[in-house]
Amino acid sequence: MIHDLSKKNSILSKFIREIRDSEIQKDSMRFRRNLERIGEVMAYEISQELEYTQTEIVTPLASMDVPVLKDELVLATILRAGLPLHQGLLNYFDTADSAFVTAYRKYDSADEFTVEVDYLSAPDLTEKVLIITDPMIATGSSLYKSYKALLSRGIPKKIHVVAAIASAQGISFLKKKMGSDIKIWVGAVDLELTAKAYIVPGLGDAGDLAYGNKE
Ligand code: URA
Repeated sequence: MIHDLSKKNSILSKFIREIRDSEIQKDSMRFRRNLERIGEVMAYEISQELEYTQTEIVTPLASMDVPVLKDELVLATILRAGLPLHQGLLNYFDTADSAFVTAYRKYDSADEFTVEVDYLSAPDLTEKVLIITDPMIATGSSLYKSYKALLSRGIPKKIHVVAAIASAQGISFLKKKMGSDIKIWVGAVDLELTAKAYIVPGLGDAGDLAYGNKE
């Protein structure tokens, strides 16, 4: 199931606009913080779908029953571009465990590449709620390979995927490969991909904008 949050105007529209705007992007601290803010909004949205139990607390005046999150969460992301979005979710889901994957494009020619996953750090995922973040879902291949690697650590109770911007092609690839039980939360869906699998209009390279150019 796809939750495209751009379908309803909200404060999220401002954060998405700012990460896309090539002038505002020059401020890398703001770029990272905007991705983090998008992660915070996504955490709030997902929190409405989680399981809670009633627990008694005592205020200075009385005792009362309040809802407390029952689900155990693991937040997974793909290094390095996923870090600010991951941090945004962690700001709200502050007791969640984290998992990290490295996935990179291995170019065979200028436009031909395969995605390689070569590092995984994850707790046991059995019966947990797994939230995988990737700021830009282009072909969906990095996310899918990361998901497959994560499943080697157990089968989660529920899986959510979070992206700031996704391509329509990436979404339909993930829907086909991961099935309809997975919920995909996106800040915007763009229609085009370049030959090098950059999203158009997109925003450019999220990792470089957050952390600088790489070799
Ligand atoms: N990753 C990015 O950072 N940008 C894109 O457009 C696609 C993948």
